[in-house]
Amino acid sequence: MRPELSEYNHLSAGKVREIYEIDEDTLLMVASDRISAFDYVLDTEIPDKGRVLTAMSAFFFDALDFPNHLAGPLDDPRIPEEILGRAMMCRRLKMVPFECVARGYLTGSALAEYKETGTVCGIELPEGLTEASRLPEPIFTPATKAEQGDHDENVSFEYMVDKLGEARAEELREATLKVYSQAAAMAEEKGLILADTKLEFGIDAEGELVLADEVLTPDSSRYWPAEGYEEGKVQPSFDKQYVRNWLTSPKSGWDRESYTAPPALPGSVVEATRERYIEAYERLSDKKFGDWIGCCV
Ligand SMILES: Nc1ncnc2c1ncn2[C@@H]1O[C@H](COP(=O)(O)OP(=O)(O)OP(=O)(O)O)[C@@H](O)[C@H]1O
Ligand SMILES: [Mg+2]
Repeated sequence: MRPELSEYNHLSAGKVREIYEIDEDTLLMVASDRISAFDYVLDTEIPDKGRVLTAMSAFFFDALDFPNHLAGPLDDPRIPEEILGRAMMCRRLKMVPFECVARGYLTGSALAEYKETGTVCGIELPEGLTEASRLPEPIFTPATKAEQGDHDENVSFEYMVDKLGEARAEELREATLKVYSQAAAMAEEKGLILADTKLEFGIDAEGELVLADEVLTPDSSRYWPAEGYEEGKVQPSFDKQYVRNWLTSPKSGWDRESYTAPPALPGSVVEATRERYIEAYERLSDKKFGDWIGCCV
Protein backbone atom coordinates (compact mmCIF):
# COMPACT_ATOMS: atom_id res chain seq x y z
CA MET A 1 0.00 0.00 0.00
CA ARG A 2 1.27 3.40 -0.91
CA PRO A 3 1.21 6.03 1.83
CA GLU A 4 -1.05 9.09 1.77
CA LEU A 5 0.56 12.49 1.41
CA SER A 6 -0.99 13.51 4.73
CA GLU A 7 1.23 10.94 6.43
CA TYR A 8 4.27 13.12 5.80
CA ASN A 9 5.27 16.25 7.59
CA HIS A 10 4.97 19.32 5.31
CA LEU A 11 8.16 21.35 5.66
CA SER A 12 7.77 24.25 3.26
CA ALA A 13 6.02 25.70 0.25
CA GLY A 14 7.88 27.53 -2.51
CA LYS A 15 6.30 29.42 -5.37
CA VAL A 16 5.96 26.22 -7.32
CA ARG A 17 7.03 23.29 -5.12
CA GLU A 18 6.09 21.75 -1.78
CA ILE A 19 8.56 19.92 0.41
CA TYR A 20 7.70 17.06 2.74
CA GLU A 21 9.84 15.09 5.12
CA ILE A 22 10.16 11.34 4.67
CA ASP A 23 12.75 10.81 7.38
CA GLU A 24 15.82 12.43 8.85
CA ASP A 25 17.83 11.95 5.66
CA THR A 26 15.17 12.14 2.98
CA LEU A 27 12.86 14.77 1.53
CA LEU A 28 9.96 14.52 -0.87
CA MET A 29 9.91 17.40 -3.37
CA VAL A 30 6.58 17.83 -5.09
CA ALA A 31 6.16 20.04 -8.16
CA SER A 32 2.72 21.63 -8.43
CA ASP A 33 1.08 22.91 -11.62
CA ARG A 34 1.46 26.52 -10.51
CA ILE A 35 3.08 28.92 -12.94
CA SER A 36 4.63 32.30 -12.38
CA ALA A 37 4.95 35.20 -14.80
CA PHE A 38 6.23 38.72 -14.26
CA ASP A 39 7.04 37.68 -10.67
CA TYR A 40 3.43 36.72 -9.85
CA VAL A 41 2.24 33.22 -9.17
CA LEU A 42 -0.86 33.12 -11.37
CA ASP A 43 -4.29 32.01 -10.19
CA THR A 44 -4.53 29.64 -13.13
CA GLU A 45 -2.61 26.38 -13.13
CA ILE A 46 -1.17 24.58 -16.17
CA PRO A 47 -2.37 20.96 -15.96
CA ASP A 48 0.55 18.48 -15.81
CA LYS A 49 3.22 21.20 -15.62
CA GLY A 50 4.63 19.73 -12.39
CA ARG A 51 4.89 16.30 -14.01
CA VAL A 52 6.56 17.64 -17.13
CA LEU A 53 9.12 19.58 -15.09
CA THR A 54 9.81 16.58 -12.89
CA ALA A 55 10.30 14.47 -16.00
CA MET A 56 12.78 17.05 -17.34
CA SER A 57 14.74 17.20 -14.09
CA ALA A 58 14.88 13.42 -13.92
CA PHE A 59 16.01 13.23 -17.54
CA PHE A 60 18.87 15.67 -16.96
CA PHE A 61 19.91 14.22 -13.60
CA ASP A 62 20.36 10.96 -15.45
CA ALA A 63 22.12 12.47 -18.47
CA LEU A 64 24.50 14.75 -16.60
CA ASP A 65 27.92 13.71 -15.50
CA PHE A 66 27.51 14.87 -11.91
CA PRO A 67 26.33 13.35 -8.60
CA ASN A 68 22.73 14.35 -7.82
CA HIS A 69 20.36 14.27 -4.88
CA LEU A 70 17.88 11.66 -6.10
CA ALA A 71 17.29 9.16 -3.32
CA GLY A 72 15.09 6.64 -5.05
CA PRO A 73 13.31 5.86 -8.30
CA LEU A 74 10.51 8.11 -9.53
CA ASP A 75 7.99 5.37 -8.69
CA ASP A 76 9.46 4.74 -5.23
CA PRO A 77 6.85 2.94 -3.07
CA ARG A 78 7.11 5.76 -0.52
CA ILE A 79 5.63 8.21 -3.03
CA PRO A 80 1.84 8.51 -2.67
CA GLU A 81 -0.15 7.59 -5.76
CA GLU A 82 -1.80 10.99 -6.12
CA ILE A 83 1.54 12.71 -6.77
CA LEU A 84 3.33 10.05 -8.81
CA GLY A 85 5.36 11.65 -11.58
CA ARG A 86 5.53 15.03 -9.91
CA ALA A 87 7.52 14.00 -6.85
CA MET A 88 11.15 13.15 -6.26
CA MET A 89 12.71 11.45 -3.26
CA CYS A 90 15.81 13.48 -2.42
CA ARG A 91 18.73 13.21 -0.08
CA ARG A 92 18.49 15.94 2.51
CA LEU A 93 21.59 18.04 2.03
CA LYS A 94 23.19 21.06 3.55
CA MET A 95 22.41 23.58 0.82
CA VAL A 96 25.04 25.95 -0.53
CA PRO A 97 23.53 29.39 0.12
CA PHE A 98 24.05 30.61 -3.46
CA GLU A 99 22.22 30.21 -6.72
CA CYS A 100 24.85 28.99 -9.16
CA VAL A 101 24.05 30.55 -12.51
CA ALA A 102 25.78 29.95 -15.82
CA ARG A 103 25.06 32.20 -18.77
CA GLY A 104 25.95 31.75 -22.39
CA TYR A 105 23.87 34.74 -23.55
CA LEU A 106 23.23 38.19 -22.17
CA THR A 107 19.72 39.03 -20.96
CA GLY A 108 17.70 39.81 -17.84
CA SER A 109 19.52 40.99 -14.73
CA ALA A 110 22.92 40.35 -16.34
CA LEU A 111 22.12 42.67 -19.26
CA ALA A 112 20.91 45.36 -16.85
CA GLU A 113 24.15 45.13 -14.90
CA TYR A 114 26.27 45.14 -18.06
CA LYS A 115 24.54 48.26 -19.36
CA GLU A 116 25.32 50.05 -16.13
CA THR A 117 28.86 48.87 -15.47
CA GLY A 118 30.19 46.91 -18.45
CA THR A 119 30.57 43.92 -16.13
CA VAL A 120 28.41 41.06 -14.85
CA CYS A 121 29.12 39.85 -11.32
CA GLY A 122 32.50 41.52 -11.61
CA ILE A 123 33.35 39.85 -14.93
CA GLU A 124 34.45 42.31 -17.62
CA LEU A 125 32.71 41.77 -20.92
CA PRO A 126 33.56 43.18 -24.35
CA GLU A 127 31.95 46.44 -25.41
CA GLY A 128 28.99 46.57 -27.75
CA LEU A 129 27.00 43.62 -26.43
CA THR A 130 23.24 43.93 -26.40
CA GLU A 131 20.03 42.03 -25.62
CA ALA A 132 20.48 38.31 -26.29
CA SER A 133 24.13 38.63 -27.39
CA ARG A 134 26.03 35.39 -27.28
CA LEU A 135 28.90 35.74 -24.82
CA PRO A 136 32.48 35.00 -25.95
CA GLU A 137 32.36 32.10 -23.50
CA PRO A 138 29.87 31.00 -20.82
CA ILE A 139 30.27 32.84 -17.51
CA PHE A 140 29.52 31.94 -13.90
CA THR A 141 27.31 34.56 -12.23
CA PRO A 142 26.39 33.52 -8.70
CA ALA A 143 23.54 35.13 -6.80
CA THR A 144 22.45 35.12 -3.21
CA LYS A 145 19.03 33.64 -2.60
CA ALA A 146 16.52 36.34 -1.73
CA GLU A 147 13.85 35.97 0.92
CA GLN A 148 10.50 35.08 -0.59
CA GLY A 149 9.14 37.82 -2.83
CA ASP A 150 12.47 39.57 -3.30
CA HIS A 151 14.78 39.37 -6.30
CA ASP A 152 17.97 37.33 -6.03
CA GLU A 153 21.05 39.49 -5.90
CA ASN A 154 23.98 38.94 -8.25
CA VAL A 155 27.31 38.81 -6.46
CA SER A 156 30.94 38.61 -7.52
CA PHE A 157 33.00 35.45 -7.47
CA GLU A 158 35.21 37.14 -4.86
CA TYR A 159 32.19 37.51 -2.59
CA MET A 160 31.55 33.80 -2.91
CA VAL A 161 35.20 33.03 -2.15
CA ASP A 162 34.92 35.21 0.91
CA LYS A 163 31.91 33.26 2.20
CA LEU A 164 32.82 29.70 1.16
CA GLY A 165 36.57 29.66 0.72
CA GLU A 166 38.51 29.55 -2.52
CA ALA A 167 38.47 25.78 -3.05
CA ARG A 168 34.69 25.37 -2.67
CA ALA A 169 33.93 28.44 -4.76
CA GLU A 170 36.20 27.20 -7.56
CA GLU A 171 34.56 23.79 -7.37
CA LEU A 172 31.10 25.36 -7.71
CA ARG A 173 32.14 27.49 -10.65
CA GLU A 174 33.68 24.57 -12.45
CA ALA A 175 30.70 22.29 -11.81
CA THR A 176 28.19 24.93 -12.90
CA LEU A 177 29.98 25.68 -16.15
CA LYS A 178 30.43 21.99 -16.87
CA VAL A 179 26.73 21.24 -16.38
CA TYR A 180 25.77 24.27 -18.48
CA SER A 181 28.05 23.26 -21.36
CA GLN A 182 26.80 19.72 -21.43
CA ALA A 183 23.15 20.75 -21.31
CA ALA A 184 23.59 23.59 -23.83
CA ALA A 185 25.11 21.14 -26.29
CA MET A 186 22.21 18.72 -25.78
CA ALA A 187 19.69 21.53 -26.28
CA GLU A 188 21.44 22.80 -29.39
CA GLU A 189 21.08 19.41 -31.03
CA LYS A 190 17.33 19.77 -30.55
CA GLY A 191 17.05 23.28 -31.96
CA LEU A 192 16.95 25.03 -28.60
CA ILE A 193 19.28 27.62 -27.15
CA LEU A 194 19.98 27.28 -23.44
CA ALA A 195 20.58 30.95 -22.70
CA ASP A 196 21.23 30.45 -18.99
CA THR A 197 20.51 28.14 -16.12
CA LYS A 198 20.37 28.29 -12.34
CA LEU A 199 21.68 25.36 -10.33
CA GLU A 200 21.55 24.67 -6.63
CA PHE A 201 24.10 22.47 -4.94
CA GLY A 202 24.15 20.78 -1.58
CA ILE A 203 26.90 19.16 0.44
CA ASP A 204 26.55 15.59 1.65
CA ALA A 205 27.82 14.00 4.87
CA GLU A 206 31.19 13.31 3.23
CA GLY A 207 31.58 16.94 2.21
CA GLU A 208 31.01 16.20 -1.48
CA LEU A 209 29.13 18.57 -3.78
CA VAL A 210 25.81 17.20 -4.99
CA LEU A 211 23.51 18.69 -7.62
CA ALA A 212 20.19 19.35 -5.87
CA ASP A 213 16.81 21.04 -6.40
CA GLU A 214 15.45 20.91 -9.95
CA VAL A 215 17.74 21.00 -12.98
CA LEU A 216 17.40 22.47 -16.43
CA THR A 217 13.65 22.92 -16.27
CA PRO A 218 12.05 25.93 -17.93
CA ASP A 219 11.45 27.30 -14.40
CA SER A 220 15.18 27.38 -13.68
CA SER A 221 16.52 28.03 -17.17
CA ARG A 222 15.90 30.17 -20.21
CA TYR A 223 15.26 28.15 -23.35
CA TRP A 224 14.89 30.00 -26.65
CA PRO A 225 13.93 28.54 -30.00
CA ALA A 226 17.12 28.53 -32.11
CA GLU A 227 15.04 29.25 -35.16
CA GLY A 228 14.52 32.98 -35.44
CA TYR A 229 17.17 33.80 -32.85
CA GLU A 230 18.29 37.36 -33.39
CA GLU A 231 20.75 39.38 -31.36
CA GLY A 232 19.42 42.75 -30.21
CA LYS A 233 15.86 41.56 -29.59
CA VAL A 234 14.11 40.13 -26.56
CA GLN A 235 13.81 36.45 -27.52
CA PRO A 236 10.50 34.67 -27.14
CA SER A 237 10.57 32.31 -24.17
CA PHE A 238 10.05 28.75 -25.33
CA ASP A 239 7.53 27.91 -22.63
CA LYS A 240 5.93 31.08 -21.25
CA GLN A 241 5.51 33.19 -24.34
CA TYR A 242 1.78 32.58 -24.73
CA VAL A 243 1.23 33.56 -21.12
CA ARG A 244 3.35 36.70 -21.37
CA ASN A 245 1.88 37.74 -24.71
CA TRP A 246 -1.65 37.35 -23.45
CA LEU A 247 -1.03 39.13 -20.15
CA THR A 248 0.54 42.12 -21.91
CA SER A 249 -2.10 42.27 -24.67
CA PRO A 250 -5.14 44.56 -24.34
CA LYS A 251 -7.34 41.44 -24.20
CA SER A 252 -6.23 40.65 -20.66
CA GLY A 253 -7.18 44.09 -19.38
CA TRP A 254 -4.17 43.88 -17.07
CA ASP A 255 -1.88 46.81 -16.44
CA ARG A 256 1.55 45.55 -15.43
CA GLU A 257 2.35 48.92 -13.88
CA SER A 258 -0.66 48.73 -11.59
CA TYR A 259 0.99 46.27 -9.17
CA THR A 260 -2.23 44.29 -9.04
CA ALA A 261 -2.29 40.52 -9.52
CA PRO A 262 -2.77 39.35 -13.12
CA PRO A 263 -6.16 37.95 -14.18
CA ALA A 264 -6.95 34.26 -14.77
CA LEU A 265 -5.72 32.85 -18.08
CA PRO A 266 -8.17 31.79 -20.79
CA GLY A 267 -8.38 28.08 -21.63
CA SER A 268 -6.68 28.52 -25.01
CA VAL A 269 -3.58 30.05 -23.38
CA VAL A 270 -3.51 27.31 -20.74
CA GLU A 271 -3.73 24.58 -23.39
CA ALA A 272 -1.09 26.16 -25.67
CA THR A 273 1.27 26.59 -22.72
CA ARG A 274 0.75 23.02 -21.58
CA GLU A 275 1.65 21.84 -25.06
CA ARG A 276 4.82 23.96 -25.07
CA TYR A 277 6.03 22.40 -21.82
CA ILE A 278 5.37 18.94 -23.17
CA GLU A 279 7.10 19.82 -26.43
CA ALA A 280 10.17 21.06 -24.57
CA TYR A 281 10.38 17.80 -22.62
CA GLU A 282 9.79 15.59 -25.64
CA ARG A 283 12.26 17.48 -27.81
CA LEU A 284 15.04 17.50 -25.24
CA SER A 285 14.61 13.92 -24.09
CA ASP A 286 13.37 12.12 -27.21
CA LYS A 287 10.77 10.52 -24.93
CA LYS A 288 6.98 10.68 -24.98
CA PHE A 289 5.34 12.52 -22.12
CA GLY A 290 2.47 10.02 -22.33
CA ASP A 291 4.89 7.34 -21.12
CA TRP A 292 5.83 9.30 -18.02
CA ILE A 293 4.98 7.93 -14.58
CA GLY A 294 1.57 8.89 -13.32
CA CYS A 295 0.43 10.32 -16.63
CA CYS A 296 -2.75 8.31 -16.59
CA VAL A 297 -3.48 8.59 -12.87
N1 LIG B 1 18.40 17.89 -1.59
C1 LIG B 1 17.99 18.96 -0.92
N2 LIG B 1 18.16 19.05 0.42
C2 LIG B 1 17.71 20.12 1.12
N3 LIG B 1 17.11 21.18 0.57
C3 LIG B 1 16.93 21.17 -0.78
C4 LIG B 1 17.34 20.07 -1.58
N4 LIG B 1 17.04 20.34 -2.88
C5 LIG B 1 16.45 21.55 -2.88
N5 LIG B 1 16.38 22.07 -1.64
C6 LIG B 1 15.79 23.35 -1.21
O1 LIG B 1 14.39 23.16 -1.25
C7 LIG B 1 13.75 24.35 -1.64
C8 LIG B 1 12.94 24.08 -2.91
O2 LIG B 1 11.78 24.75 -2.81
P1 LIG B 1 11.26 25.79 -3.87
O3 LIG B 1 12.17 25.90 -5.05
O4 LIG B 1 9.85 25.45 -4.09
O5 LIG B 1 11.28 27.10 -3.00
P2 LIG B 1 12.22 28.36 -2.98
O6 LIG B 1 13.44 28.16 -3.79
O7 LIG B 1 12.36 28.76 -1.57
O8 LIG B 1 11.35 29.41 -3.62
P3 LIG B 1 11.15 29.73 -5.14
O9 LIG B 1 11.88 28.69 -5.96
O10 LIG B 1 9.70 29.66 -5.26
O11 LIG B 1 11.74 31.08 -5.27
C9 LIG B 1 14.81 25.38 -1.88
O12 LIG B 1 15.00 26.16 -0.73
C10 LIG B 1 16.05 24.51 -2.15
O13 LIG B 1 17.24 25.18 -1.84
MG1 LIG C 1 13.52 27.35 -5.86
